[in-house]
Amino acid sequence: MLELALLTGNSNPALAEKIASQLKEKLVPCEVGCFSDGEISISIDESLRGKHVFILQSICNSLSKQGEKLSVNDTLMELLVLCDAARRGNAEKITAVVPYLGYARQDRKAKPREPITAKLVTDLIVRAGVHDLIAVDLHSDQIEGFVDCYFGNVTVAQLVPPTIKKIGFDAKDTVVVSTDSGGAKKAKRLADRLSGEMAIVHKHRPKPNASFVTHVVGDVNGKNALLFDDIVDTGGSLVNAAQACLDNGAKKVAAFVTHPVLSDDATEKIEASNLEKLFVTDTIPLKRESSKIDVVSIAPTLASVIHSVYTGESVSALFK
Ligand code: R5P
Repeated sequence: MLELALLTGNSNPALAEKIASQLKEKLVPCEVGCFSDGEISISIDESLRGKHVFILQSICNSLSKQGEKLSVNDTLMELLVLCDAARRGNAEKITAVVPYLGYARQDRKAKPREPITAKLVTDLIVRAGVHDLIAVDLHSDQIEGFVDCYFGNVTVAQLVPPTIKKIGFDAKDTVVVSTDSGGAKKAKRLADRLSGEMAIVHKHRPKPNASFVTHVVGDVNGKNALLFDDIVDTGGSLVNAAQACLDNGAKKVAAFVTHPVLSDDATEKIEASNLEKLFVTDTIPLKRESSKIDVVSIAPTLASVIHSVYTGESVSALFK
């Protein structure tokens, strides 16, 4: 078996450390910084020759070790440069573990002359030298097909039942609510896991980052509603959906959202909303703590997936 090596950039060092510790491994010493004009510079202080290298890096806003703001474009570029360095360092196999795949939202042309950035970004990652990809809760299942290699799309559904118990939501008395029609299939799968019902909030998006609810499909009356989504960005979809559920008779509303993008004043919006609680994972570091937002770590799940990919065991068996 090849030797394993774990590398990370600056997007989410806390998650990378947790994954390494779960795997009882150490991260390869590596300096990811930049030249004075902003170009990414990388120095890897250990040989990668002949190893199976896992590069752990979300494509998200973050802070560098020096506290400088890193944009989603900076962390994407760090990932690409890390892949290139690993390839040129003669790694035998490179797996990119991208807990949050930024740019995945634009996965189809909704109107003429729109880009499909999910395809562009996955192409770039593969072109940079990776053999396999792993991401968490992809914006849509078809993104897996945008690359001609193994693309593990790690679900978060197994984290939901123990999490909602903490706020007294009984699985059978909870309606899983998708915040838009695009998330309906995922919501149905979760509702089946909880042996409960599902509903869909129908949302209209007149322009990016703005949305309003038109109606709720399904019955939330007298039930606890659990909003289930992949991304919370401005928080608009979530806050509006929470209000729509309450207007339709829901007892309480909470949310489980995988990727806490939480731009601008999203955290304040969530705090001022009718949501009992927002649960998110740590695919993206939280910009600031909030008593309304609890983080459920994805590290144990990702560590198990990495272990299975490394040893050639079944990944799907982990989720049965
Ligand atoms: C959209 O299709 C996604 O699943 C999320 O619903 C969306 O990105 C959330 O955006 P915001 O928080 O800005 O409403």
